[in-house]
Amino acid sequence: MIFVFSGTGNSYSVAQRISAATGVKMVDLVAAVRYKRYGYDAAGEDMGFVFPVYYYGLPRMVAELAENIVVRNPGRVFAVATCGEESGGACEMLAEKLSGRLKLDACYDVVMPDNSIFAFEPPTPEQERETLEKADARVEEIVASIRDGESGDFCQYKGEKDWREIYPMYEEQRVTEPFRITDKCIECRLCEEICPEQAIKVYHRKPVWDEERCSLCMGCLELCPKDAIEYGDATVGRRRFFNKVYYERSIGIPLKFN
Ligand SMILES: Cc1cc2nc3c(=O)[nH]c(=O)nc-3n(C[C@H](O)[C@H](O)[C@H](O)COP(=O)(O)O)c2cc1C
Repeated sequence: MIFVFSGTGNSYSVAQRISAATGVKMVDLVAAVRYKRYGYDAAGEDMGFVFPVYYYGLPRMVAELAENIVVRNPGRVFAVATCGEESGGACEMLAEKLSGRLKLDACYDVVMPDNSIFAFEPPTPEQERETLEKADARVEEIVASIRDGESGDFCQYKGEKDWREIYPMYEEQRVTEPFRITDKCIECRLCEEICPEQAIKVYHRKPVWDEERCSLCMGCLELCPKDAIEYGDATVGRRRFFNKVYYERSIGIPLKFN
């Protein structure tokens, strides 16, 4: 089982590569949390967690799964954190949340295009291409290491900062009030369909965000076919990004556009 959480497809694309190379199936992490499916029997099969780094730590859904999951007969257990620049303590945090129930044998990080356009300038097309090329090579290494059954902390991009100081900013900044739609909206409801947490409901033809559920994954904003969703003013005029491998989510909804 490879538990995957992904807002804009980077983590999904990595999980898909690992799954194809190892034959281990992907599982939608958010659905597991939504239906409180926390008990598994892995029957000796490898287990993986693939997710984006948020504020040097874990997306809330990943943290919630890790706090609750119980696995009988696990094979080897690995984690892969995708990040825009620095993975901080994401894998360490995962190991802490799992501790006493599941031990991580190997963890990895990989730099991919940064989707936090509410905070940072998005990559240019050229930067995006270069980053994805490098990520490709890094994912090859990761896949080989998983197949070889290597053990250890193989994270290369943790950065210098103390993740325990950065991570609390996530809860402070995980607010939905800045989301708004512009008159470019064509009422296609793609945002509602693709939101991994089902945090978006369309009322009177316009999306409304549920703050309790939203992980701030940026999927809605980045994948909107008309770039009609903004988050405050910072995202206005900024290029959108989503990973092209992301035609189909782990939950099986094919994208209608692109
Ligand atoms: C809310 C939020 C916080 C983020 N925090 C970090 C971070 O602390 N360090 C980092 O390198 N990238 C950070 N990023 C960038 C993502 O980790 C990165 O783009 C990731 O590959 C996205 O994966 P996905 O496409 O599977 O959602 C953040 C992105 C979001 C949306």
